[in-house]
Amino acid sequence: MQKNYGVKFLSFSGALPSKVVKNTDLEKLFDTTDEWIYTRTGIKERRVVDNGESGLSLSLQTAKDSLNKAKIDPKAIDLIIVSTATPDKLYPSMSCMLQGLLGASNAACFDLSAACSGFIFGIATASQFIYTGQYKNILLVGVDIHSRFLDWNERSVAVLFGDGAGSVVMSSCMAKDDELMGFILRSESDTKLDLTLDNENVTFSQFKNQISPNFVKMNGKAIYQFALRVVPEITNQILDKVNLSIDQIDCLVLHQANQRIIDAVSERLNIPKSKVLSNIQNVGNTSAASIPLAIVDGIKSKRIKSPCKMLLIGFGAGLTWGASIIDCNIN
Ligand code: ACO
Repeated sequence: MQKNYGVKFLSFSGALPSKVVKNTDLEKLFDTTDEWIYTRTGIKERRVVDNGESGLSLSLQTAKDSLNKAKIDPKAIDLIIVSTATPDKLYPSMSCMLQGLLGASNAACFDLSAACSGFIFGIATASQFIYTGQYKNILLVGVDIHSRFLDWNERSVAVLFGDGAGSVVMSSCMAKDDELMGFILRSESDTKLDLTLDNENVTFSQFKNQISPNFVKMNGKAIYQFALRVVPEITNQILDKVNLSIDQIDCLVLHQANQRIIDAVSERLNIPKSKVLSNIQNVGNTSAASIPLAIVDGIKSKRIKSPCKMLLIGFGAGLTWGASIIDCNIN
């Protein structure tokens, strides 16, 4: 593609709810143990919204932080994309509600639904508006509040997820300074419905019946196999595309679905553990927020040092998966 401009990643930020739910708290809800959860998933605790917190309040917190760090006035934002599969409302969109709270009155706004791949799909989408010169400054937020869509009586899925939001400001620069080396997006219809969250309210004729709750349903083994199939494959494809070898990657930021998946994929890719980011122990699977939250954690812990070639990989419901390589001076 002919690029008229390049993309700069100005400022990654994250926001987590204040309430911590430890594995030992879940032991009181259903028949499970801290040991079972930790050995199967790598998770010790997660955060959940409470006391007036919401997807929107976390999005606002992280967006303000990204804009402040990037020193960008909200009025200079041309586009807001919020990647989420669990919006606070079906409409208005999260991005439109966020626009109002930020005072980003010049921004066009839309939400993007690609579940746990949402941040990668968001980066790819935003980059197209920048490459063509359509927009200069884009705010991308990944946010998911799964705690409102979990059956807290059902032990196999409820232990996995946590709530959170993450964001970045992407701005245009000269084409030669482009920090987005490349991306690949893939999808494959989940015909067996291995990972679903229904949104089935009553029809007109069922009007007097109670609305049935909609919860996340997952075939854990199928999703594990899906991740182990597509992640190594897309890694090789993106490395080929940008003409790099895995040794030239400084940092692998995989969607934080499950520590067992992170470990198994890293082993297959033959990438040293020191280069693989993981923050799932303290936050659980935060879906569209997991990649920016892992990056923020990596910056804080100094595991990401500037400049850094980062391989970002998301995979999730849809089914969707995607990879991008960014070579940036992170802050
Ligand atoms: N505590 C205790 N026991 C449990 C729990 C729990 N929380 N959950 C399930 N079990 C039991 C089951 O009932 C079963 O008991 P049984 O043998 O008496 O029938 C036993 O543990 C084994 O159950 P499995 O489902 O076979 O457990 P498995 O070892 O496969 O681990 C897990 C389940 C962790 C979900 C695994 O399948 C996995 O890692 N899947 C990947 C899916 C994933 O990570 N999804 C993340 C969200 S989706 C995404 O982000 C893309």
